[in-house]
Amino acid sequence: MNPLKTPTLTGTIRPASDKSMTHRALILGALTLGETTILNPLASDDINQTIQALEQLGITITRDDEHACIKVQGLGRRGIQAYVATLATTLAFDFGNSGTTTRLMIGLLAGLNIPAHITGDRSLQRRPMARVVDPLVRLGAQITLTDGHLPLTINQGITATVIDTELQVGSAQVKTALLLAGLGADIPVTVTDSFQTRNHTELMLQAFGVPVTTNGPRIHISAPVTLRPQLINIPGDISSAAFWLVAGSIIPASELTVAHVGVNPTRTGILAVLDRMQAQVTLTHQHVVHGEAVADINIRYTSNLKATTISANEIPQLVDELPIIALLATQATGVTYITGAQELRFKESNRLLAVGQVLQQFGANIQVNDDGFTISGPTSLQVPAGVVDDFGDHRITMLSLIAHLMTGTPHQTPDVSNVNISYPHFIDDLEELLND
Ligand code: S3P
Repeated sequence: MNPLKTPTLTGTIRPASDKSMTHRALILGALTLGETTILNPLASDDINQTIQALEQLGITITRDDEHACIKVQGLGRRGIQAYVATLATTLAFDFGNSGTTTRLMIGLLAGLNIPAHITGDRSLQRRPMARVVDPLVRLGAQITLTDGHLPLTINQGITATVIDTELQVGSAQVKTALLLAGLGADIPVTVTDSFQTRNHTELMLQAFGVPVTTNGPRIHISAPVTLRPQLINIPGDISSAAFWLVAGSIIPASELTVAHVGVNPTRTGILAVLDRMQAQVTLTHQHVVHGEAVADINIRYTSNLKATTISANEIPQLVDELPIIALLATQATGVTYITGAQELRFKESNRLLAVGQVLQQFGANIQVNDDGFTISGPTSLQVPAGVVDDFGDHRITMLSLIAHLMTGTPHQTPDVSNVNISYPHFIDDLEELLND
């Protein structure tokens, strides 16, 4: 039995705006000649890394005080190259915790042939970079890594006159890096993505006026192309919404709406999982903006959740949601198997280890395997003994905050500031849903 009554979550919130789309809108805006307006951008630490990176390339970026709008004065590829040529020293970047900034910028810089030194914080320095550097080196780039990791140095950009490559890892960051390398070098690019990773880059390029042809897993952009300045409206991030989809499903009597969420089919693996587990989820106000599906998601508590199996082919469509899906599985009847999720080792923390350890501290019946988890439920979660480690990982902090709610106790995570990486108003939204 839980020692205290669990609180109920009710009401409507709009989650943090989409992180992947905001990074891409900034970078593509920089490649236009003119002013791009980004409405409802994510304002977060990771996004600030991309803004700073582009500013180092001579791009002027302005934000309004409420962070509801960003304006990017694009210089185009030649304008960026001309600006960098005026600098006396090699550019040096520190991308903090942001893997997306790092991998996308490596592709762009290698395409534009801009030499650079790149590093990041301790977490970023343990994340694999060979997956993006190796294909660029095969295209003629000269890039030196430190044992497959940051710090790295780009000595020379790609020299190939065409890119035609197949993704070896199911990573949208690698795919986007290659597409940006092609755009930067102004050469035709074909990337084969058999993993069906998120396709925001492809859709947003089309919004910026670039024809992108897709034929099954093959994505093709011809050259030369011109990106036209745009007005881009960013919907909510389903990876942030995921915390409320799960919290609403497992916290008794909850009934909530997460409004204006991106439901691009390459991101909605969690909705398919919730459906299989017999959660009470409905989508309303469905519409499409710049090719991106958007909807309000309504969620109601159910005591009838059923275990499910999630395997390799589904992982790219829900990779960032796996920590909170693991919590969901602790409340379902039966054994949930998550396999093919070895990528979790390479996120902001080793999330296989982190999720296992955190949920075990709450008394969950979760076993960590080489490539995923085996979770038996339902389990009545218990107040953890001692402080729960956040592994320096924003999604682990948010997981632990929701798990605490299940025990009916206030959170004991001493420092929740790393939610600023992806969801700065997470605590405000939590309070709003608790008080509604
Ligand atoms: C992202 C892709 C995913 C995801 C990350 C954002 C992107 O990473 O985990 O949070 O914006 O392309 P991988 O490409 O490494 O799977």
